[in-house]
Amino acid sequence: MKGVFISMEGPDGSGKSTQIKMLSDYLKDSGYEVIITREPGGTVISEAIREVILNKDFTEMNPITEMLLYASARAQLVAEVIGPALEAGKAVISDRFVDSSVVYQGIARGLGIENVYQVNNYAIGKYMPDVTFLLDIPAEEGIKRKKDQKELDRMEQESLDFHKKVAEGYRELAKLSADRIKVIDATLPIEEIYDIIKSTTIGVINR
Ligand code: TYD
Repeated sequence: MKGVFISMEGPDGSGKSTQIKMLSDYLKDSGYEVIITREPGGTVISEAIREVILNKDFTEMNPITEMLLYASARAQLVAEVIGPALEAGKAVISDRFVDSSVVYQGIARGLGIENVYQVNNYAIGKYMPDVTFLLDIPAEEGIKRKKDQKELDRMEQESLDFHKKVAEGYRELAKLSADRIKVIDATLPIEEIYDIIKSTTIGVINR
């Protein structure tokens, strides 16, 4: 079996975790060994970097520092988990990947799409997702859902304006990478979203 790499993207509160769980069960039933990873995180070192990035007290963090920390966490995750899993023919589902950096740091923080890609190309090498699902949700709705679930972290505490830039940035990026990124309306019922994800994934596996 050839490895398959799927990433799940979307603004905070777009419902990625629920869909990842459902897709994982489907891939397991199809005979894959499935690895689920989250970003930033997924290895001991990357989780330690996550603690620094999302710490609510570090409000003075420079956007470039932030971008490099996300890329560092990602480099470790690719080297330690994602790369080896794909080489062993497993299915990898990543809760966020490089597109999050392109949108949050490149577009919303204004560092520039190209700069963020450049740094991240170095961090991830040849491992780009075969397909990326973008769960598209209005910024207000996403943040409202998050607030109902838990205390907000440093990124989630950003202004509504920032989160609007994120939601719009994702749509912009999806147009630029239309062959890889599948946009799905995250306000649809869970089962409907899942049907789209499943049928697209089957197409990718059989290609
Ligand atoms: P997390 O709690 O994992 O958010 P979610 O449950 O919505 O995925 O926190 C990750 C936060 O970090 C989220 O606000 C998005 C942000 N982020 C970036 O800004 N750049 C990145 O490269 C990544 C991976 C995440």
